[in-house]
Amino acid sequence: MTFRNTPQTFGSVSKLLHWLISTLVILMLIAGYFMSDIGNDTLKATVINLHKLTGLTILGLMLVRLVWTLLNPKPLPPPGTSAFMKFVEWGGHFFLYAIIIAMPIVGWVGSVAAGHVPHAGSIVFNLSFISSVPNKPLAELAFQMHSILAIVIIVMVSLHVLAALYHHVIKKDNVLRRMMPG
Ligand code: HEM
Repeated sequence: MTFRNTPQTFGSVSKLLHWLISTLVILMLIAGYFMSDIGNDTLKATVINLHKLTGLTILGLMLVRLVWTLLNPKPLPPPGTSAFMKFVEWGGHFFLYAIIIAMPIVGWVGSVAAGHVPHAGSIVFNLSFISSVPNKPLAELAFQMHSILAIVIIVMVSLHVLAALYHHVIKKDNVLRRMMPG
């Protein structure tokens, strides 16, 4: 197996980033919807801060992935794929990258504007361009966008999984297999 992509398949770096980020995003969606119901205040504060730090990690991993994707060839679509389907696939992947980068950014802006800066021990992840904290209108707008993007991510990831299964079960091509580990 190669580190880099080839015109035939994804390399181990792309596969690792794909499965690591997708696993973290799914865990973040589940935690995001349940964390506000945690009764114990100390545990709730710890889980929310962990949510923020994991979200910032996803942002970092997505930026690494974006650079790696731009530096690597993209495996060719199966022979006979129409120009329209190539565009739909490209558009879908572009949109997935955009929303999974935007999601942690709006969460971060919302948290800083609300005066709850994410922290890891003594390291704080502040955004100095956000003034007059607590900035309630900005925090509310950011968390509304965070909630809407969560639903958009669920819909887009579901379509992405259905497309992969369509290739594997119906078209019986190697689109899913070439992203699988090993
Ligand atoms: C890909 C990364 C992320 C995902 C998938 C995600 C997902 C979610 C979800 C599903 C919710 C619940 C939304 C709702 O109740 O409608 C949520 C809430 C929240 N998220 Fe995130 N999140 C991410 C990154 C972040 C980051 C980076 C921060 C801050 C640095 C953050 C801060 C918050 C906060 C404070 C809430 C609670 C908002 C409230 O009480 O209304 N999130 N997140």
